[in-house]
Formats: sequence, structure tokens, C-alpha cells
Amino acid sequence: MLSGGPATTESVNRGPFLADVGVVGAGPVGLAIAWRCAARGLRVVVHDPAPGSGASHVAAGMLSPVAEAYFGERELTGLLAESAARWPGFAAELAEAAGADLGYRTDGTLVVGLTADDLAEARRLWAYQQGLGLPISALRPSQLRDREPALAPRVRGGAVAPGDHQVDPRRLVAALRTAARRAGATLLPGAVTAPNEVAAPVVVVAAGCGAAALTGLPVRPVKGQVLRLRAPGRGAPGFRHVIRGYADGESVYLVPRDSGEVVVGATVEERADTEVTAGAVLRLLRAAVDLVPELAEYELVEASAGLRPGTPDNAPIIGPLPGRPGVLAATGHHRHGIVLTPVTADLVTELIVTGTPDPLLAPFRPDRFAGAAGQPVTQEETWN
Ligand code: GLY
Repeated sequence: MLSGGPATTESVNRGPFLADVGVVGAGPVGLAIAWRCAARGLRVVVHDPAPGSGASHVAAGMLSPVAEAYFGERELTGLLAESAARWPGFAAELAEAAGADLGYRTDGTLVVGLTADDLAEARRLWAYQQGLGLPISALRPSQLRDREPALAPRVRGGAVAPGDHQVDPRRLVAALRTAARRAGATLLPGAVTAPNEVAAPVVVVAAGCGAAALTGLPVRPVKGQVLRLRAPGRGAPGFRHVIRGYADGESVYLVPRDSGEVVVGATVEERADTEVTAGAVLRLLRAAVDLVPELAEYELVEASAGLRPGTPDNAPIIGPLPGRPGVLAATGHHRHGIVLTPVTADLVTELIVTGTPDPLLAPFRPDRFAGAAGQPVTQEETWN
């Protein structure tokens, strides 16, 4: 186990503890870790006063290892691809375990540019992604319109990333709660203010932005404002692909669901409030309607804001905390919490059970931010 030897179900220090593993945070990452650990025979408690109310509540659920492969993030891109490859199996297993429909869809993603400048910006990024060998292909305008006739005639061009899929994060969290409970995990509503309040020899801090106060790790809130529209008559939206668009310099994504919902996102703001602003709603709606005009007729059913857990290098923080035996972090997933859920859960569970970190974890360890004393640096030390 982390605090001394592998935590196999035989070797775990059951001592005075009623649980083998405590998880702080019942978002998708925390719940998936709880589910996986419980399924391996470990006794698991999950602490969260408001399960599923964090970043996942507003997340669109894009599983986008290709279209979200950004300049300068090679290691993160590798982890996104690894986790996306696990998604089909993870989704099937979870749907079966929970008896639930996750809203998992594999229609692929279109990347489009409205104006010539927008298209040039989009092309620059997809050329980089192609250079990494990622599956994204340019489409002729006629091919684009054949795939999605709902796109505005003035959309100049685009590309398709067929392997970039989607899931409904709210359904995902509900299913994970059911699956974790069915596997034997206990969900407790009490708030935790420090890992040592959790009565377990291994504690996983999967509390999103809350991880900063719990661990001192450099996790900061990155605000995202998101809208939810609904197709008229409660029918399905008039397009099936996830659409990531550049429209007069605005970046927007449109995620259609079978239920008729379309998620329109998102701002990326270095702020810690969750107010919805008129300006953000205006910009998101203008970009959305410019790309897909029929959206003007949809009902606006929700405008919300959430806080992504950002890190200094935009990559998640996964692994043992230096100088804190038995405490693990699984946080800092920033814009990628949903796609990274399967790989994070698998790697953390394997580490807990075997005591040996998978090499995949090496770039994402908490000690990459360690200060001179070997402790995680604080936010102030990192950003000031
Ligand atoms: N991954 C989408 C977002 O963070 O807005």
C-alpha cells in the first residue's frame, strides 16, 4: 500500500479502520476510483456534501483527445488518447453495472471555421494535430455540408475528428454513484477539511478545485460559462456531430444529445466566481447561431457556470503526495475531467492495489510541483 507495501485485499492494513480507502470528492473521478476500488474488494467510503455539483455538473462531456490536443501539451495529449481509448469499454461496463444509459455517443466531431480567418486558425491547430499522427481530416465544403446540413452556408470549411465522442456528464455521475454503491462503496455526506479526518489508511483527494485547500497543491479555479438549449417539440437536434467552431474570433462548441439538449460552451476565465454574465451569454449564443442558424429557434433552458480545476501546466495531478504517507491526489483535470475519468480511475486503483505506479503516471505526479522541502508548493508560491 502507499504508506508501506501494496494494498492488496489481503495485505491492506485493516487495523482499526472501517474502510481501506477514503475518497474525498464524489465527482466523476472520485466516484470512478471508488467504483474500481470497491470492485477489487476494497472497503471504500466517499465523502462529499454535494455529490456531482462541481465542474461535472456544467461540463459538456466531450471526449476529445484530438480536437483538444493543443500546442505545447504533448504529454497531456498522450494521456487524453490513452483514456479515450478506454472509454468504449468503460462506458459499456458502467452502463451494465449501473443499468443506466450514459448518453454515450460516437458520431464524431467536426471542427469548423466561419470566416477565412477563423478557418485559418482552425487549420493551424488541426495541422499540428495531424503532425502528431492524430485522426483528423480536412473536408471539402460540400463534404462538410453533406455531413451536417444544419451548418450555416457561410461556414468556410472544416475537418472531421471521427474518434472524438461524447457522453452526458450528469448521467455519468448518476451511473457512477449507482455502480459504486452496488460494488459496496459507502457515500457519506459529511464535508472533509483535511485528509487526516478520513478514517482510512489510504485517502484519495479527488475534490477538484477543493484539492488546493485540502492539500496545498497548486490547483486554481478556471471559470466556464455554459448554456443548455432544447430543440423545439422535444425532438432531437438537427445535427449529430459535436461541432467545435471558430466564429468571428470566438471559440465555441455545440454538443447535441438524443434528448434534444444542445450544450453550448464555454468561456475560459481566470476567475473564481460562478456568476453568469450577459456578455458571455451573448457571445456564446452569437457564435452558436452563426454556425448553426436553427439554434435561434431552440429554447434556452439553462445558463450556468462552473469552476475547472486548473494547474500550472494544464495537466492533471495524479499520485502520492510527497511527505504525506497514504495520501493520493487525483485532481487538476482542468478541461478534461470527463475524458480522463477512466484512465485516472484505473491508474489510481492499480497504484492502491499494487503499490506500484504505472509509468503513464510519471509526468503527472504531484511532486513535479514540490518545493525545496519536498512538500507541494502552495498556489501563492506558484503564481506570485
Ligand atoms: N473541455 C471543455 C471545456 O473545458 O470547456
